Amino acid sequence: MKTLVIGTGGREHALALALSRDPGVSEVHAAPGNPGIGAFATLHPVDPMDGPAVAALAAEVGADLVVIGPEAPLVAGVADAVRAAGIAVFGPSREAAMLEGSKAFSKEVMAAAGVPTAGSRTCATPEEVAAALDELGPPYVVKDDALAAGKGVVVTRDRAAALAHAAGCGRVVVEEFLDGPEVSLFAVCDGTTAYPLQPAQDFKRIFDGGRGPNTGGMGSYSPLPWAPPDLPATVMAEVVQPTLDEMARRGTPFVGCLYVGLALTADGPRVIEFNCRFGDPDVQPVLALLASPLGELLHAAARGRLGEVAPPRFRDGASVTVVLASAGYPESSSKGDVITGVGRANGVADVDVIHAGTALDGDDGPRLVTAGGRVLAVRAVGYDVADARARAYAAADLVAFDGLQRRSDIAAEPLGAVEGASLVDPADG
Ligand code: AMP
Ligand code: GLY
Repeated sequence: MKTLVIGTGGREHALALALSRDPGVSEVHAAPGNPGIGAFATLHPVDPMDGPAVAALAAEVGADLVVIGPEAPLVAGVADAVRAAGIAVFGPSREAAMLEGSKAFSKEVMAAAGVPTAGSRTCATPEEVAAALDELGPPYVVKDDALAAGKGVVVTRDRAAALAHAAGCGRVVVEEFLDGPEVSLFAVCDGTTAYPLQPAQDFKRIFDGGRGPNTGGMGSYSPLPWAPPDLPATVMAEVVQPTLDEMARRGTPFVGCLYVGLALTADGPRVIEFNCRFGDPDVQPVLALLASPLGELLHAAARGRLGEVAPPRFRDGASVTVVLASAGYPESSSKGDVITGVGRANGVADVDVIHAGTALDGDDGPRLVTAGGRVLAVRAVGYDVADARARAYAAADLVAFDGLQRRSDIAAEPLGAVEGASLVDPADG
C-alpha cells in the first residue's frame, strides 16, 4: 500500500513512522512533512490547505491511502477534494469536521445524541456571556466557537478575565466546569462503526505541576494504569457510537479519528471536547504501542469497511513522550537555534525522536534548527510507565538548543490524575 500523510508536525511524524513500520505499507510520502519524516519518507512541497493540489499529488504518487493530520485542512474540506478524486482518505469531510470546527455545533450534536458533557450556553453578546457566567458559576469556562489553534479556551476563577476573553472572540460557548482527570480517547471511525485506541493522557500546561498557560501539550503517556479497564468500552457506548449515529442521520457521516477529550468526573466520563483528528502529542505513545498494522486499519476506515479488519491490538508495556519546546512558547516561539544531539538520542534503544517544529538550514551543509514552538518530542517505550519515563528523559538529556523548555514531571505520577488538576492554574485561583 502506498500512503501519503498531510501535515508538518509531531502527529504527522508519528503517523508516518508507524506506517513506515507496517509491512503492508510499501511507500510513505508526506506533504509538506518535516526533516524527521524526510529521513525515511519522500517529501513533497505541497500546501496542506490546497485540496486540489493534495488530490493531484495523491494521484501522482499513486497513493492508496491519504491521511490528513491537522484540523485546519479538514475543516477547509481538503478530505472532500481527495475523496472526490476517488482516493481513500482517512479524515472527515468539511461538514463532519465541524465537530471540531465549531464548539456550538459539537454541543448541539452531543445534545441530540444524548452524550454526557458539560452543560453549556452559546452566547453572541456580552450580556448573554455575563448571564451564562453567573448561571453556571466559577470556575468559568469560556470557549471561542471557532477554531483558534489551541488558544480558544480560558478556564479561570476571575470573572473579569472570563468576560475579557469572550469580548475578544465572536460567538462563544460558556460551559460548566468539569472536575476530574483528563483523558484522550481516539476512535477510528468509518462513518458507521468505530474502534477505540488505547487511552492516553496529555500534560497541557507549560510548567511542572500543571502551572502556567495551556499549550498544545508538553508530554503524554499511555496506557493509563489507574484508569478503569472498561473506560474505552464505556466511551464507545455512551459517546462515540451515539455521535456517529447522529452524524450519519444528518447525512454527514464521520470518517476519520474522533478524538474524545474526557474529564473523568465523580459522575462518570464527561466530554470536554471533540476534535476531528488525532491529538498531538497524546497519540504518539499510543502509536508506539500499536501492535497491529496501522495502514490496514486506516484504509479500512477510509473505505467504510472497518468491520472487515480486526480491532487494533497493543503491546504490553508503556510509552512516554516528552516535548522539547523553544524559548517563549506558548506565547511565542523562536526560530533558527541550532539543535544538537538528535542523532544520539534517536540511537537509544526503544526511543524515537519525533520532529514537531524543525528545519534544515545552513550554507555549509544542512544543520537542524528550531522552527516552531514545540520543536521535538522524545518518545520511549518501556516495561511500564516508570521505565518508559526514565528512558525518555535519558534520551531527552542528550538533546540541546538555546532556550529549550521541557517539563520534568511528565508521567511522573501515573496514578494521580495530576493534570486533571491542570484544569485551573493554581495561580489563577
Ligand atoms: P479544549 O480546547 O476544549 O480542549 O480546552 C482546552 C482545555 O481547557 C482542556 O484540555 C481542559 O483542560 C480545559 N477545559 C475545557 N473545557 C473545560 C470544562 N468544561 N471544564 C474544565 N476544563 C475545561
Ligand atoms: N494535545 C491536544 C491536542 O492535540 O489537541
